[in-house]
Amino acid sequence: MAHSVRGVVARSKGAPVTVESILVPDPGPGEVLVRVRACGVCHTDLHYREGAINDGYPFLLGHEAAGTVAAVGPNVTDLQSGDAVVIAWRDPCGSCRSCRRGRPWYCFASRNATQRMTLGDGTPLAAALGIGAFSELTLVAAGQAVRIDPAARPEAAGLIGCGIMAGFGAAVHTGGAARGDTVAVYGCGGVGNAAIAGAAFVGARRVIGVDIDPRKLEWARRLGATDTVDASTTDPVAAIRALTDGHGADLVVEAVGTPATYRQAFFSRDHAGTLVLVGVPNPTAQVELPLAEVFGRGGALKSSWYGDCLPSRDFPILIDLYRRGRLDLDAFVSETIGLDDVETAFARMERGEVLRSVVVL
Ligand SMILES: NC(=O)c1ccc[n+]([C@@H]2O[C@H](COP(=O)([O-])OP(=O)(O)OC[C@H]3O[C@@H](n4cnc5c(N)ncnc54)[C@H](O)[C@@H]3O)[C@@H](O)[C@H]2O)c1
Ligand SMILES: [Zn+2]
Ligand SMILES: [Zn+2]
Repeated sequence: MAHSVRGVVARSKGAPVTVESILVPDPGPGEVLVRVRACGVCHTDLHYREGAINDGYPFLLGHEAAGTVAAVGPNVTDLQSGDAVVIAWRDPCGSCRSCRRGRPWYCFASRNATQRMTLGDGTPLAAALGIGAFSELTLVAAGQAVRIDPAARPEAAGLIGCGIMAGFGAAVHTGGAARGDTVAVYGCGGVGNAAIAGAAFVGARRVIGVDIDPRKLEWARRLGATDTVDASTTDPVAAIRALTDGHGADLVVEAVGTPATYRQAFFSRDHAGTLVLVGVPNPTAQVELPLAEVFGRGGALKSSWYGDCLPSRDFPILIDLYRRGRLDLDAFVSETIGLDDVETAFARMERGEVLRSVVVL
């Protein structure tokens, strides 16, 4: 049986999203049906709406969610109805060439539900990042639903499902941030501030947040930045050098995704430093760098997909840190809204008024 519920749909490039009646099938083998409790609005949802990811419209948006298992399909043995879960957009297959080499965080055949959710007229929906959680119910692969401590507040817990994990992991997993490092982060939105929180958590001695919006910098300081740079008034490369004895940072995380900030981030590194790109660029974006500097500066230029996380390993760890007061997830929840308010939330995100708007159902 399919369930008719309300979901937030992007119908065509750039068009405002609409709340529609959608049909969500009961779970088949290897699938679970999740009753969504909360889902954060991530910049990637806006990228979908704008056609910057692909043109597979209509999209069912939302991918930063916590909920409870409503039903499990045949053969699903490790979850049961009522379990509190955070939904992951990666569920490693265990058998692709990357999983077989012991690197499941790069899995190239990550699993999603095999049945499709549809519009009322049967048109298949492309669920954002294989989730689609701006919806009362969503259907995912069982491995995407990661059981967590039910005491964690869903509005905060759900953010681990994308932005927090991506940012924290970009700094700590991909970038290898460690005690004593100097770390600079370009873009102090939800993702960048999670990178700041991660760097602070592992004991980086200097954590520099860079943004063009003073409100974002204020949040960065709350989340662990020791210094902030307003790039709308100050040259961030020079400022980062000045804050690191003239050298540049050991690790620079780029959480904006534009050629201009990528170049600045590149030049903000110390010799042999690491640059991690976690911001998602537009498909047409190009960056030009002096090859002699790419060579001469050494170090590593990396990209971070989902913070190189293993959801089943890492989500419960971040929830534990949250519950113990070591990771302030509540600080990321700027407002709670309803399903009808996602379009307004995009505008607020673009104006820099929020770290995260979170849809509560
Ligand atoms: N790699 C991944 O797995 C992954 C996961 C989630 C999100 N993302 C991407 O990360 C990026 C950030 O996402 P978010 O949700 O934090 O978005 P956001 O809009 O909340 O944050 C972006 C921040 O960049 C700042 N910014 C814009 N121009 C700048 C400039 N010139 N210099 C410095 N700062 C500038 C903005 O003021 C804003 O604070 C997006 O591109 C998103 O798609 C990547
Ligand atoms: Zn795999
Ligand atoms: Zn996201």
